[in-house]
Amino acid sequence: MEGAAGADSICQDSHRAAPKTTGSEGFSRSRETMRSMPGNCGEIRGSVQRMTPLQSLFEIEHSIVQAPMAGVQGVALAAAVSNAGGLGSLPCAMLDADALRRELIELKALTSKPFNVNFFCHTPPVASEERAAGWRKALAPYYRDFGLELDDVPAGPKRSPFDHAAADVLDDLRPAVVSFHFGLPSPQLLARVRAFRPKILASATTVEEACWLEARGVDAIIAQGLEAGGHRGMFLSEDPTTQMGSFALLPQIVSAVRTPVIAAGGIADVKTVAAARALGAAGVQVGTAYLLCPEATTSSVHRAALKSSECRHTAVTNLFTGRPARGIVNRLMRDLEYMAQAAPAFPLAAAAIAPLRTHAEALGSGDFSPLWAGQNAGLCREIPAAQVTRDLSAG
Ligand SMILES: Cc1cc2nc3c(=O)[nH]c(=O)nc-3n(C[C@H](O)[C@H](O)[C@H](O)COP(=O)(O)O)c2cc1C
Repeated sequence: MEGAAGADSICQDSHRAAPKTTGSEGFSRSRETMRSMPGNCGEIRGSVQRMTPLQSLFEIEHSIVQAPMAGVQGVALAAAVSNAGGLGSLPCAMLDADALRRELIELKALTSKPFNVNFFCHTPPVASEERAAGWRKALAPYYRDFGLELDDVPAGPKRSPFDHAAADVLDDLRPAVVSFHFGLPSPQLLARVRAFRPKILASATTVEEACWLEARGVDAIIAQGLEAGGHRGMFLSEDPTTQMGSFALLPQIVSAVRTPVIAAGGIADVKTVAAARALGAAGVQVGTAYLLCPEATTSSVHRAALKSSECRHTAVTNLFTGRPARGIVNRLMRDLEYMAQAAPAFPLAAAAIAPLRTHAEALGSGDFSPLWAGQNAGLCREIPAAQVTRDLSAG
């Protein structure tokens, strides 16, 4: 990942800068933008008046981005949301270059609308045998209980940062939008993406991260509040106390930057969308609310947890991958510390958990599964993704 020098000074400069375009303020500039656009978004629903900066930026009907969600969705969910007028997203962190190419070709066959492809930008860890051994020791009682062999733990699920092989595929298939989690790729890699002129998004979990992203010219910033399900996109600090809820984070980021801000975290119905807009968001990115859609590949244990009262108790934990992520509290999280020193660096913690997860899931239990979900998981409904998208945008 690129270095982070100068975030503070950039932030203050941005704060003093000329009027920006976000939330309801953004309607006026977007009207101008749309008038000058050759016959695409300006014609959406025949209503130039209601065009927001996000609708014009992405050429979409609704300012709703379906959050990329690695491990629980593929092309079907992304296509359904894009076809319904939102911005569907394809999570690519767990795809190698061949799989990425296949999925992009498939997605393009399913929708002619814009969609987003999403990558992680973490620095790959240096594996430490000492840490791996400590982690196996912490998990040894479960291995014993399940009659599993601890000595030959297979390599865990692959989560690779964005690289040149992925950039080659994007250069061939040219998606309209590319988003990044955990910062941005190196300047050289980012320049390769910019060369084919997609819109570029990235997540910020603090004002400093938002300013850092703005200084590097992203087209929109995703303000990820602490309510959000899945991995925290944090990248300038590892200190969990820097993380804020959406109500505090969103307006502070909106005041600090001129770039359009997309609110994420806890947004799951039309009222929470309206709240995000009122706090200055140009649009929203929604993940958890799509988890029970038939188009998602959410596992049966994950679906069961989402449909039960357990979904109201989520916590941020590093146990499943090594990085903090929010999920429904289960046995592993209750037994160990939520944020365990012993967990190896991202994504290495996942390897030793995987056999436990497979074993438990075969018995219908989510005790060892990452049940990623946000704090508003109780609002999840088992309805098609197109309907979720339309309902979110009904305000
Ligand atoms: C199951 C799940 C998986 C996720 N995976 C990713 C991912 O692969 N890439 C990413 O940028 N964000 C990921 N996120 C985080 C989302 O981008 C977004 O910040 C979050 O879903 C917003 O909060 P909400 O879940 O309350 O709607 C994931 C979230 C969930 C719930």
